[in-house]
Amino acid sequence: MRKAFFIPWGSRSDSKVLANDLRSLLSETAKQQVKDVMESEPAMIAESKEIESGRMKAIVRERFGSPDVLQLKELEKPAPDDVHGVLVKIYASSVNAADRYEIRGPPSFLLRLALFRSGVRRPKEQRVGSDISGRVEAVNNNVTQFKPGDEVYGVCNGAYAEYATAKENRIALKPTNRSFEETAAVPIAGLTALQALRNHGHIKPGQKVLVNGAGGGVGTFAVQIAKSFGAEVTAVTNTENTDMARSLGADHVIDYTKEDFTKNGQRYDLIVDTASSHSISTYKRILNPNGTFVLVGMRDKIIRRLLSFIIGARLSRGDKKFKFFVARSNQEDFVTLKELMEAEKIVPVIDRRYSLGETAQAVRYFEEGHTRGKIVITTDHADQKPWLSMAKTA
Ligand SMILES: NC(=O)c1ccc[n+]([C@@H]2O[C@H](COP(=O)([O-])OP(=O)(O)OC[C@H]3O[C@@H](n4cnc5c(N)ncnc54)[C@H](OP(=O)(O)O)[C@@H]3O)[C@@H](O)[C@H]2O)c1
Repeated sequence: MRKAFFIPWGSRSDSKVLANDLRSLLSETAKQQVKDVMESEPAMIAESKEIESGRMKAIVRERFGSPDVLQLKELEKPAPDDVHGVLVKIYASSVNAADRYEIRGPPSFLLRLALFRSGVRRPKEQRVGSDISGRVEAVNNNVTQFKPGDEVYGVCNGAYAEYATAKENRIALKPTNRSFEETAAVPIAGLTALQALRNHGHIKPGQKVLVNGAGGGVGTFAVQIAKSFGAEVTAVTNTENTDMARSLGADHVIDYTKEDFTKNGQRYDLIVDTASSHSISTYKRILNPNGTFVLVGMRDKIIRRLLSFIIGARLSRGDKKFKFFVARSNQEDFVTLKELMEAEKIVPVIDRRYSLGETAQAVRYFEEGHTRGKIVITTDHADQKPWLSMAKTA
């Protein structure tokens, strides 16, 4: 797994650090494409069950742009191969911030040139979306962990579709106590929260942890996961979400429209920030000695904010750590999240549901920036209904 960087003086050149930061703005899926590419024999389907050949509906975009570029089209149904060995019939997906860059392209033309994997003028991949929850339809002969009929969740390329192929090590069995809709809300947001707290924040029981942006996709998971580690959690969110944050287990809830959490005299051992609402020097002031600040994301002015983070983090060194990281999807963490769901330690919060054909509306709503938990996109397979239970919202 790629490590988060802690920014000490002179450890890396700024340009390299910035390039790494900016790469994080690309979709998780685009990054994974580069990894694990194997030379292999042509794909073979080991299972006796024939894959129904045919067509499927999927969301595609032929150029970068606003969510208006998203179209529902009929495409050839994919077949598993040696790399993407599991064909999943997708029942639900969910919207992530990374989709924004898949759809709109990296935030500047120069950046697009630098990160040409995603395409410079036009997107290389037509399909979009990452999070999936569904049923295994067929597997390649090198797949050992899954078989047709298994209920799974995780990430893949082109998740806004009726079918997609996933890498075996990017999915896990779906928890038994949660619906497809609920589990589709988890992969990237849940994984990001888990890695922020555990891998980069090194969270410990009894620590005072603050989650800024606690009402959003990553934030709602971060509050619950921090509680599951035995931390004393303060959630910062807006007025409408304060009750929800309490119901997720937050010990203290601060309404950022009424109170500035940096001015109430409280100090924290770990701050996880998905909203990037204050300066590094302010965060430094409210960290306890040896405390850690983990920056998860920025709402806007990304390049400017990243630069000020890098500079601010350098100036703020000492016994306090400032980290930024790129979440990496892996099966082990999906299994951990499954166990947390089965133990009722985390319950996905679903703000709205949209059908596959309404994906553009879903992304538009997400871009407004005030999602309460997650936005889920459902597909309309004939066999879907019996398997879906109403998602519980906090
Ligand atoms: N590093 C990584 O690997 C990684 C992975 C996934 C996501 N991210 C990044 O993480 C960020 C959050 O992602 P997400 O999926 O959780 O987005 P999201 O669902 O839109 O959540 C962001 C939340 O921040 C809240 N917020 C906005 N202004 C705030 C303020 N001043 N104080 C406190 N909260 C505020 C918003 O709610 P209200 O305004 O309604 O309160 C919203 O709920 C994004 O920038 C994304 O790019 C990074």
